[in-house]
Amino acid sequence: SNEEQDNLSQDMKDLIFSLPREKGWRTPYLYLFQGFWCQPAEIQAISTFQNHFQAKDSDVFVATVPKSGTTWLKALTFATVNRQHHFISSKNHPLLSFNPHDLVPFIEYTVYGNHENLPNFSNFHEPRLFGTHVPFDSLSNSIKDSSNCKIVYICRNPFDTFISSWVFCNKIKQDSLPTLGLDEAFEMFCNGKIGYGPFWNHMLGYWKESQERPKRVLFLKYEDLKDDVNFELKKLAKFLNCPFTLEEESEGVIENIIKLCSFEKMKEFEINKIGKFGRNFENKYLFRKGEIGDWTNYLSPSMVENLSKVIEEKLSECGLKF
Ligand code: A3P
Repeated sequence: SNEEQDNLSQDMKDLIFSLPREKGWRTPYLYLFQGFWCQPAEIQAISTFQNHFQAKDSDVFVATVPKSGTTWLKALTFATVNRQHHFISSKNHPLLSFNPHDLVPFIEYTVYGNHENLPNFSNFHEPRLFGTHVPFDSLSNSIKDSSNCKIVYICRNPFDTFISSWVFCNKIKQDSLPTLGLDEAFEMFCNGKIGYGPFWNHMLGYWKESQERPKRVLFLKYEDLKDDVNFELKKLAKFLNCPFTLEEESEGVIENIIKLCSFEKMKEFEINKIGKFGRNFENKYLFRKGEIGDWTNYLSPSMVENLSKVIEEKLSECGLKF
């Protein structure tokens, strides 16, 4: 489509036309770029990022599989890292007036979304917080090799990620596209054909790195956060070199962060009810149910069996379980 290619450089158009493509979820096509599926504008942004980004040792990346708890983990990370400047119980806390995706900008949308206008990092203060869905192997070399920056990663059981993605993509898809049916979407998902997928490669890339370099990558799961967010948040703070002190703990700082970032609270903030993320979608679509197991309301027994097989086949050897 012309609309998809409007803002691309000629080099990019040439590259993209040479890539394998498949039907997309919310845009006409997904292209296979560096081993994962993504949209033309994302390919342009990721290339710009790979060519230009210089990591700092103090940088923090919130890396995620789409629809796995990105918004939540960004909120928790922002609140925790900045708790000295932005007191959690302040009436002016940034999370009350900005969506987490504005506070922790995506590398491949917000930061490098315009290849003709490279980001100016002078108004970022340290530690800089960034979000990304880019698979580990495709992060810029300065992140992977030459710096001590930190990566916190979250994924989620693929059944819930699938339903969350399917509902979300149908809400934000281009108007000209027909609704994507559940069965068709499921087939695509199981074949790895979804933005930043296959999901198993995404998980495995960060999983391996978290095993080999546990000081660099913290691997989290949505279900673990739902189960014991207090424990996971302490782990996160420690990993980011800003552990909670006993004093903070007894003053209730941890509990206050958890409350501020809870689904119930965040969903009700004005900015999340009426705000928009760029021109792309309404913030309210980021807060749907926030539960474990909603897939049981959608998937047939044979679908469950099929996806279970995919998970077993692709992820069991490394010990990743959902
Ligand atoms: P559901 O669609 O299952 O409700 P992402 O932030 O990566 O886009 O993931 C979106 C999913 O996280 C959605 O799941 C959404 O409801 C849930 N979510 C958003 N904010 C949350 C929060 N503060 N706590 C728990 N879950 C949250």
